[in-house]
Parts: sequence; structure tokens; C-alpha cells
Amino acid sequence: MSEIRLTRRTYLAASGMAIGGLLLQGTPAVAQTPLVRRNIRDLDPNGPEITQLREAFRIIESRPNGSSVGWLGQANIHRNRCAHANWWFFPWHRAYLFYFERILRAAVGDPTLALPYWDWSDPSTRAIPAPFWRRYLYRVIRGPGIGPSSLVPDELVDRDFIVEPILDIPAFSTFGGAASSSPMIRTAGGSLEGSPHNNVHNWIGGAMARPEWAAQDPIFWLHHANVDRLWAEWSRRHPGGLPTSPAWRNQTFSFFNTAGAPTTIAVSQVLTTGALNYRYDDEPAVPMPLAEAAGPSRAERAPETVAATPPRPVLGSTPITVTLTPTPELQTRVREFTAPQVRDDASAGTLLLAIEGIQAPDVPQVLVRVFINLPEANATTSPRDLHYAGNFSFFTSDAQGHDAHGPYTQYLDVTRAIRRLADADQYRADGPIQVTLMAVPIAPERRQEAATRIPFRRATLTAK
Ligand code: C2O
Repeated sequence: MSEIRLTRRTYLAASGMAIGGLLLQGTPAVAQTPLVRRNIRDLDPNGPEITQLREAFRIIESRPNGSSVGWLGQANIHRNRCAHANWWFFPWHRAYLFYFERILRAAVGDPTLALPYWDWSDPSTRAIPAPFWRRYLYRVIRGPGIGPSSLVPDELVDRDFIVEPILDIPAFSTFGGAASSSPMIRTAGGSLEGSPHNNVHNWIGGAMARPEWAAQDPIFWLHHANVDRLWAEWSRRHPGGLPTSPAWRNQTFSFFNTAGAPTTIAVSQVLTTGALNYRYDDEPAVPMPLAEAAGPSRAERAPETVAATPPRPVLGSTPITVTLTPTPELQTRVREFTAPQVRDDASAGTLLLAIEGIQAPDVPQVLVRVFINLPEANATTSPRDLHYAGNFSFFTSDAQGHDAHGPYTQYLDVTRAIRRLADADQYRADGPIQVTLMAVPIAPERRQEAATRIPFRRATLTAK
């Protein structure tokens, strides 16, 4: 795995003066040799990289609380300005990590320091990495029952079961969030954010479960390096898939440079990891140029939507079923993409489920399971059931938080589930589509915290 092990000497030789510019200037300059963010699984807990990382955290943690380049000052950027449940979720967090990593590097004076990532989707690395249970990398409380040997449950993060289907989602909005008028205004969250990303925040619990404190836990940065890596992977799988709208690309975000002075960066500057001079160890060493949208590959048709309100507008531990009646046009679309000959063709069409008007619960540590055409599903129904369409959880502040504001939407791509059901004769194109939702504890340890009521307004299905 470690085909690239940059030593400080080879790195400096390769990148020469460029790195000086990267550290000293307000706007990012591009050095020649990208830094490699590595899987923490492959790093020796007592080796030089982790030792250096701990030292960098020790230094930033020793800075005064008011310092913009200190541990708390950096965490408070997240409290005050994080972008969630809209189309800036990925670029905002990429830029946040970029500036934070530069501050760590400057703290130890080592231009080769790179954040590792924690790949929780891999069944062999489901525990919070051991160094993050030791001083400087273990700083704030985590949830009840979570210790060094606790493993993130399969249903929250598994590569094959949860992450792969999400990486296959062709539409950026379903994958990564919908348009919004401001980075801090929630509209609709994509599936990578709403499911594995939120799930890991909630499973770790404690500070990590709340936007206002999450970045105080050093594991936050490795969690987000993994989220960022998955965005890079999605971008490789879906060339030309990023939004082209100037409203998205021209949006700027504010952070701090290594000297602690405010600086801004635009979305258009963070579209690839290569543009910021780093790459993940599973990315090609020579970054692929960013493909621009080549225009729609099939005749663009207007999306066809049906909506239904629930019998009671509250989601909780008692399952609730919303019954949607497809229009003839929607039936035709679904027939098209469930036909056996297009079974693996993502461009044949997709079916998007939107749970609208969600008001996140005060106790966020629940997982919402979604089943299609199984109204009798309950808390004992296996997530491996054919009718299981995915899950999501919540990441919002308590009442005092900046983003304790209005309702938002959660997107789920249910194309795979519908195809699976069609294969098994569990779906009739001309019949109703029943969506059953229920909240379960995010981890068995949280059972006592799981009583909750989550208002929502309606569900919609959109065929594209
Ligand atoms: Cu802005 Cu995972 O958080």
C-alpha cells in the first residue's frame, strides 16, 4: 500500500519553493508533489506520522482559547459556519480540512504532515483508531458505552451494504445535497451525509453528535478526511457530475490562514483534491483532469413526482407507513429502469425518495430505517431484508445552536431497492408504493436514549 512514503527530504526536493508559498500566502498555491492522506490502518501508532500528528495537536491545544489557529478556535469555525443538508456540504468540509491541515503543518514546522483518514466502511477498521484514545488525540467526551474496542455497526457504515450504493448514485443532489440560498441554510441533505456521515457522528456520540462541539474531538478530522475521500471517489465514478451552476461554484467560504488571518476560498478552487495539492492513497497518483459535464446522455425529461402525507406526521419508534400512488407517467418510468436488460444501467433512470419537512429530534441518537412495500416491517425486521431501502440519522444542534432552525429534507435513492423488489416480484408498477419509516437506537448502548418524536411533513417519489 505504501508505494508513496514521502520523507521530508524527498518532499522538499520535489516541491522546492512551492511549499513555501503554500504555507505563507493567503491563497493556496499548488506545489508539484501532492501530499498523501493515508489510511490510518497503515500507520504505526508509535511511528513518525502519528507522533508528529500528536505533537501538532499538542501545540494547537496549548494555544489560548481565543486563538483562531488554536484547537478551540478551529473547532468553533464548525460551530459557527458549517454547511449541512445542502449542496455545499462537501466543498465546505474539504476547505475546512485543507486550512486545518496547513495549521497543523505550520505548528510542527513539517510541510509533509498530512491528515490520515479513518475508513469506517472497512469491516477491519471499525474501531476508533487506537491513537485517538490517547492524550492530545482524545480530548472530549464520547458517547456512553463507546470505548477503544467498540465497533461501528455494519448497518451504519458498511462498504458493500451502505457506502457502495451511495457512491453509485448518479445525481449530485441525491448524493451530496440540494441547492440553497446560503451555506448555513439547510434545504435537503444527500445520502452520504445523511447516512454514514451522520451515523458516525451519532454513534461516537458525546461532542461528535452536535455540530457546535463536533470538531473539538480530534477524530472529527479523520472522519471527515474519509468523507472527503468518498467525495473524490464519487467524482471519479461520475465524470462531469458536479454541479455547474455558478451559484454553487462561485460561493466562497471563510477560514484562517496559518498566521491566523481570515482568508476565503471559492468552491471552484476545491473541486478536486489535486487542486489543493493533496490526494488520498487510493487515488491515482496522476490526478485525472476534471471532466466537465458533457450534456445529458439521454433525452432530458422532466422529473415526475408523486407526493403523499403520512397518516400522522410524526416519526418515532412506532413504524409509520406513507402510501404513494404513482401516476401513469411515473409507472412508465419505473417500468423502464426495472426492465431486466437495463438492470445495471444507472442512466436508465432513478427513483428518488424525499422525506420532507423533517424537524430533527432533540435526542439525535436514533437511526431511521426505510422499507419499501413492507408495511408490516417493525424494529425486529432485518436490515438485510429485501425491502430495506437504507437509513439516515440527524446532525443538528440543540435549541441553543446556530442551526436549530426550520425543517429540511432527506434524500434517498431507492432505485436499487425497487429493482431488487421487481426481480423478486415484490413490486408491481401499477400498484401503490408504501414507504415505512421507523426510528431505532443508533447503537444498542443507546436504547434508553431512543425515545423520540420526529415531525415530518410528507414523502415524495421522483422518477428521473
Ligand atoms: Cu460539519 Cu461531520 O460535520
